[in-house]
Amino acid sequence: MIFGLIKEDMSNILIVDDDSGIRKGIKLALIKDGYIIEEAKTGPEALNIISKKYFNLIISDLRLPGLDGIALLEKIKDNHPSTIVIMITAYGTLETAMEAGKKGAYDFIEKNFTIEELKFKVNKALESQKIQNENIRLREDKKYLQNQLEGKYNFNNMIGDHPSMRRVFNLMEKVIEDGEVTVLIRGESGTGKEIAARTIHYQGYRKNRPFIAVDCASLPANLLESELFGHEKGAFTDAHSQKLGKFEIASEGTIFLDEIGDMSIELQAKLLRTLQEREFYRLGGTKPVKFKARVISATSTNIEKDIIENKFRQDLYYRLNVISIPLPPLREKKEDIPSLVSYFLNILSLEKGKNMTITKNALDILQKHDWPGNVRELKNVIEQVFVLTDKNNIMPEDLPDYIIFPKASSWNYFNSIEEGKNYKTIIKEIEKDLIGQYLKKYDYNISLTAKTMGVSREMLHKKLKEYKEQIKR
Ligand SMILES: Nc1ncnc2c1ncn2[C@@H]1O[C@H](COP(=O)(O)OP(=O)(O)OP(=O)(O)O)[C@@H](O)[C@H]1O
Ligand SMILES: [Mg+2]
Repeated sequence: MIFGLIKEDMSNILIVDDDSGIRKGIKLALIKDGYIIEEAKTGPEALNIISKKYFNLIISDLRLPGLDGIALLEKIKDNHPSTIVIMITAYGTLETAMEAGKKGAYDFIEKNFTIEELKFKVNKALESQKIQNENIRLREDKKYLQNQLEGKYNFNNMIGDHPSMRRVFNLMEKVIEDGEVTVLIRGESGTGKEIAARTIHYQGYRKNRPFIAVDCASLPANLLESELFGHEKGAFTDAHSQKLGKFEIASEGTIFLDEIGDMSIELQAKLLRTLQEREFYRLGGTKPVKFKARVISATSTNIEKDIIENKFRQDLYYRLNVISIPLPPLREKKEDIPSLVSYFLNILSLEKGKNMTITKNALDILQKHDWPGNVRELKNVIEQVFVLTDKNNIMPEDLPDYIIFPKASSWNYFNSIEEGKNYKTIIKEIEKDLIGQYLKKYDYNISLTAKTMGVSREMLHKKLKEYKEQIKR
């Protein structure tokens, strides 16, 4: 790309004029300022030089033998649009000068210019080119980031092959195609509600508009209200200036109302009115503001129960829940664990430049865990192991303790009752298991373990004697 050739420190300037006196004058005036200067006598000679080297600025006479200044200008603009051209005009060439302006000449300088005038115009031109290049760079950066973001939120990056996830992807495709319908995403913490909402946004026609997420659980009701709807100057004591709300900022994009179940009942009424009327008032405002954003909300609470307990408005629920996307907890789609793990390992390998795989035994352990924190917990565990272990293949012992040694839960033991064990035996098993975990944690130091357990050393010794066959290092 052309911009890659631009030297930030030194600018290249080409002077095109058949009058050697003018060429010399300009060169002498500018060379002291550190520019690299070349000369050409004719249009064709200039084109030949330009084809081999990039020039930031070309100062050319309007009247040239052979190829005239306008034709040269056209060729420069066609092949090197970012090169700036200043034309030298003689008295009485106003019309031609205007034509040159239309064809992209940046500025003009009359033949009898002063050195100050010349320097001023050249500096101004190069300065504006710098700003223009910077703007183009920023635009390119933004495009790059946007592409990255879209790449991050495509279906390839939401992993799942379990029938429940296939249903989710089906629903998402329909919702993306529709582009308007209001969506409620349901699921426990860490099941992927936000990634699903972003995927819907970035895969749909609204992708070039904002995606605005608002966490309804993290702000007190009055702050959330002004966050959503904005306020006018003076609407309340601290409203020193007007503020736009998230509904307004989302414009024709998507507003993602996260943890909607936690919204206060008063604010629910205002939200309902907003969704019905497709307009709202800023706090303290008298003019209605229209909104065109798509609304996606998400919740991890049991909204139906909240409705029965009058904590959530049923009418709002119907408005929000036109399409419901239920994200299953990870424990109900354990078949997806291997592909999620290899996906996270691949991403980490790319990011951190070291390859890592996982053994079958370690994967088996991961599949036995119940994952109360769902995919987020799994992702965190993989990240943690990736950073902490020096090996290239994850073994069971590399996994965090709480995953290798599941806590003694009464539920696990409850299941064994059906195998005919009596209550006393089960309690003993739990106790043995618990003491084993304590000992392991405190490195088999009896005093420390007893102290932490809140029992005497004698008591712990007695128990150890009782279980001596079973408690081993
Ligand atoms: N199916 C999936 N494939 C790949 N990554 C996933 C998937 N589901 C969730 N994740 C990842 O797990 C993490 C948690 O997901 P996300 O933040 O979307 O969950 P959430 O339901 O919004 O959680 P919370 O309710 O706690 O806010 C994110 O890093 C996300 O990228
Ligand atoms: Mg979330």
